[in-house]
Amino acid sequence: ASTLGAAAAEQGRYFGTAVAAQYLGESGYVTTLNREFNSVTPENEMKWDALEPSRNSFNFAAADRIVSHARAQGMRVRGHTLVWHSQLPGWVGGLGANDLRAAMNNHINQVMGHWRGQIHSWDVVNEAFVDGNSGARRSSPFQDRLGDGFIEEAFRAARAADPNAKLCYNDYNTDGINAKSNAVYNMVRDFKARGVPIDCVGFQSHFNSASPVPSDFQANLQRFADLGVEVQITELDIEGSGTAQADSYRRVVQACLNVTRCTGITVWGVTDKYSWRASGTPLLFDGNYNKKPAYDAVLTALGGS
Ligand code: G3I
Repeated sequence: ASTLGAAAAEQGRYFGTAVAAQYLGESGYVTTLNREFNSVTPENEMKWDALEPSRNSFNFAAADRIVSHARAQGMRVRGHTLVWHSQLPGWVGGLGANDLRAAMNNHINQVMGHWRGQIHSWDVVNEAFVDGNSGARRSSPFQDRLGDGFIEEAFRAARAADPNAKLCYNDYNTDGINAKSNAVYNMVRDFKARGVPIDCVGFQSHFNSASPVPSDFQANLQRFADLGVEVQITELDIEGSGTAQADSYRRVVQACLNVTRCTGITVWGVTDKYSWRASGTPLLFDGNYNKKPAYDAVLTALGGS
């Protein structure tokens, strides 16, 4: 196979990218997207502020453009994200507990219902734990008003809203074995023990020199997989360039391939020029859509050439 998506498919995996609707008119962007990837994640268009800017008034247009494009190309779609403290419109934070619970459940129902049967995996809850050694929950309207049970409640609502979607918990700095990933691990183990519906854990995998690919990355994926959930690498990008960057990418791909339940990898953008890391070069294609050494390393690791 000569593309990322086709090579990954031969390994029984998907290879995806984040996509931003505003670039779907740019030929280099679209050509690269269509050729290389077989899964897409809307980068911002499925977030709460984009979809439900005021209560119970939904705007699906930008996200629909991405989903339509993906489906026309035979690509799969990851949903990102239903319940998150960030990119949350102001009105959500102003609600009391009962209203907030109703609004959260309504948001899940409406959004998942809109694309029912079209999304392979949803990030139901994103980034609910703090960084550092406490393993504590992050303050948010959901956590502060609904308590620890908000995550479980969101997953139960999500299962009912689209029974065909894989339901994921997604976070960053959980890629190695550490206090934060231990806290997520304990939550997933508890959910599985009690029958709370959860199917997958997303590891964002935003790496840089201060936060490189951890030596125990594969071991961490494996311990989650051993709980009976899929693991997915959901927002991969790695700061750097040249051989060092390529080696880091290779290690990530190899780790996923070595874990049977690691079902796919998504990089967080098509080209360096539109990366969220404003001045960085963390992706597989440069600003002119040329393949970087990291691209070749990924393709080779996937068994392609
Ligand atoms: O929507 C406005 C637009 O109307 C305005 O013209 C423009 C001017 O700057 O800003 C637009 O909003 C920006 C939005 O991206 C859409 O482009 C926000 O300012 C900007 O903060 C936002 O950044 C996104 C960030 O999430 C927000 O938290 C990045 O693109 C996106 O890559 C990033 O993605 C997150 C994942 O969702 C979760 N994990 C971490 C990851 C990286 O931070």
